[in-house]
Amino acid sequence: MAAVMPASIEPLQPPQRLLMGPGPSNPHPRVLEAMARPMVGHLDPYFLGVMDETMRMLRHLYGTENHHTIPMSGTGTSGLETIVLNLLEPGDEAIVGVIGYFGQRLHEMAQRAGAVVRTIEAPYGEVIPPERFEQELERRPAKLVALVHAETSTGAVQPVAPVAEIARRHGALIAIDCVTSLGGVPVDIDAWGIDAAGSCSQKCIGAPPGLGPVTFGPRAMEAVRGRKKPPPTWYLDLNLLFRYWGEEGTAKQRAFHHTAPVSSIYAFREALRLIMEEGLEARWARHAAAHERFAAGVTRMGLSFFTPAAHRLPMLNVIAIPDGVDDARVRRAMLDRGIEMAGGFGPLQGKTWRVGLMGTNADPERIDRFLETLDEVLRGEGWRD
Ligand SMILES: Cc1ncc(COP(=O)(O)O)c(C=O)c1O
Repeated sequence: MAAVMPASIEPLQPPQRLLMGPGPSNPHPRVLEAMARPMVGHLDPYFLGVMDETMRMLRHLYGTENHHTIPMSGTGTSGLETIVLNLLEPGDEAIVGVIGYFGQRLHEMAQRAGAVVRTIEAPYGEVIPPERFEQELERRPAKLVALVHAETSTGAVQPVAPVAEIARRHGALIAIDCVTSLGGVPVDIDAWGIDAAGSCSQKCIGAPPGLGPVTFGPRAMEAVRGRKKPPPTWYLDLNLLFRYWGEEGTAKQRAFHHTAPVSSIYAFREALRLIMEEGLEARWARHAAAHERFAAGVTRMGLSFFTPAAHRLPMLNVIAIPDGVDDARVRRAMLDRGIEMAGGFGPLQGKTWRVGLMGTNADPERIDRFLETLDEVLRGEGWRD
């Protein structure tokens, strides 16, 4: 029997929120407006031009000349699975750095790809000293070293350039999850010697969720082309995808693979255009200044950070919840005042709040509004007089 339809469904009227969680952040009005531009076909010559421009701007943002740099159709996770499923084959050795929840996910993805996976871990809030990767590779080589650059569950930034240097010296490929870092702090793929990286559209890039920007360097593509068997995924198969996005030198031959999410790519292109207009250095400086302002305000209020200052992310701030304060009630009161912030993950649930200062929200006025509102809510909770 068919489900009963309600008498009427009202038009969409989402509330206006200030999104100060770990993403999505609030897209710039130009980005939302780009989504409403006329639809064209995914093989329309106009859209092929949009794809090329998107690839060019994304390469600039990633600090790379890698041809194989595209937004995957799917959220950040799709990009990370693309990396893992294309680079690893059953029986391959992999080493995964785990400093929080998102490192654990990378570990699980590598296991599902059939790899023999070893982890190198650090406690929540800490990062892994690069020498530990050297010791592990000396003990037993690996085909791939994978780790998270900006661990959103703990607010820590893991140094990756020295790990890349170690991995390459030991003949391993190096891949990073820069879902939270790209667009907010430097991510310099070529200078750091990174072979593959995956990010998302909805955090510091400031587009809606739905795309997973990835980049693959020559060593990674050699591994992809040299596979014994095609990857176990058809949708995320890089060799098939670049028949659509265009291989180097054959850019005009575009074969259907899947129907690209045209409007999402319009929005992503506009978000990248805004980043190009602002300039990378200026954007990173804006995120750093936002963090300084936020940290000063938080400290003034008597709150403290969970993450040690030495490796604190500017765009994702993990705050310790004061004793006796009810996590859920405070977040609900913030939401009632139009502001989203997030709770802690895994062992940090109920103990921390996570506050994102990403994209358009890395902004003094928005930070002040957040701090004033949190102050008011905490006073209402009787924490401060
Ligand atoms: C570090 C990190 N990796 C991966 C993901 C997954 O990205 P998505 O939710 O876009 O699939 C997230 C999402 O917050 C993240 O913070």
